[in-house]
Amino acid sequence: MPVGMADKVSQSLFERAARVIPGGVNSPVRAFRAVGGSPVFITRAQGAYLYGADGAKYTDYIGSWGPMILGHAHPAVVAAITEAAVKGTSYGAPTELEVLFAERITKLYPSIEMVRAVSSGTEATMAALRVARGFTGRDVVVKFEGCYHGHADFLLVKAGSGLATFGVPDSAGVPAGTAANTATLPFNDLAALRALFAEKGASIAGVIVEPVVGNMGCVAPAPGFLEEIIALCTKHGGVSIFDEVMTGCRLSPSGMQGRVGLKPDMTCLGKIVGGGMPLAAYGGRRDIMQTVSPLGPVYQAGTLSGNPIAVSAALATLDRLDDVLYAHLEALGARLEAGLVSAIAKTKVTACVQRVGSMLTIFFSKGPITSWDDAKACDTVAFGKFHNAFLAQGQYWPPSQFEAAFIGNAHTNADIDATIAAAEVALAASV
Ligand SMILES: Cc1ncc(COP(=O)(O)O)c(C=O)c1O
Repeated sequence: MPVGMADKVSQSLFERAARVIPGGVNSPVRAFRAVGGSPVFITRAQGAYLYGADGAKYTDYIGSWGPMILGHAHPAVVAAITEAAVKGTSYGAPTELEVLFAERITKLYPSIEMVRAVSSGTEATMAALRVARGFTGRDVVVKFEGCYHGHADFLLVKAGSGLATFGVPDSAGVPAGTAANTATLPFNDLAALRALFAEKGASIAGVIVEPVVGNMGCVAPAPGFLEEIIALCTKHGGVSIFDEVMTGCRLSPSGMQGRVGLKPDMTCLGKIVGGGMPLAAYGGRRDIMQTVSPLGPVYQAGTLSGNPIAVSAALATLDRLDDVLYAHLEALGARLEAGLVSAIAKTKVTACVQRVGSMLTIFFSKGPITSWDDAKACDTVAFGKFHNAFLAQGQYWPPSQFEAAFIGNAHTNADIDATIAAAEVALAASV
C-alpha cells in the first residue's frame, strides 16, 4: 500500500462515506486530514490490535481515543454487555446498576460526593459548568488554551494573545454572545491566572482544566498550577473543575487528582469510566451537586443516561483497574518513551517525547512543550510524514500532532519493541 494511503477497500468505503457523511466521518479527527492521508476502516478489534477492512493488523495506540484501557473486546466486558442486553437495552427508569456505578465513582474519587451519569464527555463538561454557574450565580467561566472540553458552544473558544481573550468563537455557528463569558488563558501561566482573578474574581463561576492536557498532545501541569486553580477558586468563591474525561482512571484509578492528591470542587469523567460505551459522568461536592434537578434549580437530563448496558460495561471495566494494571502501564510507558528517545537521537530528528503514565506524545519540536503556543510551533509536516510511514508499518497512532497516544493493558513488551523499531524507520522518513 502506498505510504499515507489506506488500503483499497478502505479507500472505496471512504468515497462512499464522503457522499453521505460530512467529511466521510462521524468525528473530524478520524478523517486523517491533518496527516494528509485517508482513514483505515476497521472491521474488528481484539486486545491491542485493530483489523482493517482488507484484513491488515494494526497495533492500536488510539484505543478509541482513550477508553480501551483493558484492550479491545475484553472477555469480562463483552460478557457484561451480553448479559445486560438480554435483559433489555434501555428502561428510562432507575436501576441498581446506576447505584453501583455512582457508589463506585464516589469511592474511587474522594472529591466526588454525588455524581450524575450522562452519555458523553461533552455533556459532562457542559453540565458541570451549568451547575457551577447555577451554584455561584455568576456567568464567567475560565478555560485554558489548547484544552478541549467537548463541543458545547461556549467552550469552543479560541484564545488570543494577552492576558485573556473573551468571546472569540473557534467554530462557525457559535454566536459571539454565547462565548462572551468564556475567558481563555494560556495553560501553565500562573501569573495570567492570578491577574485574571485579581481583576474579575467576583464574577468567575468556575475554572475548567484538563489536569494533564491530552488535547494539544501530552502536556503536564507546571508545579503548583493545579493547586493554584483550586486555591483561587476557593478564595474567590468559584468552582474548580477538573476535566478528567481523558485522564480519569487512566493516570491512576482516581485520575490525575488521585495521582497528585488534589480535591477539585467538581470532576468530569468519560472514556474509560464508560467502559467503551456512550457513558460519562460529572460530580463533586455535595452542596454543589444539590443544585442539580430535581433536587435543585439547575436542569439537566438524558433519555439514555445511566443506560444499563453501558453501566454494565463500565462496572466490568472499573472492577479490573488494580495496582498490577497501573504498574504494567507505567512500565510499558517508560519502555516506549526510552525507546522513542533513543530512536530520535539515532535519526537526529528534531523531536521530543512527553509522557505522563500511559499517555504519550512525540512532538516534532526540540521542546519542552508547556503551552498551546509551544505545541502550535511543532513541525506538523514532519509529523504527517512520520505518521504515514508509521501507519504503513502497522502502527495505528493518533493522526494529529495535537493528540496523545494511549497504551493499554493488552499491549506487551514485544508490541512496544516492534513499535520502537517502526518509529526509527518512520522518524527517518519524516525528514
Ligand atoms: C478532556 C476531554 N473533555 C471532554 C471531551 C469530550 O468528550 P466526548 O467526545 O465524549 O463528548 C474530550 C474528548 O476527547 C476530552 O478529551
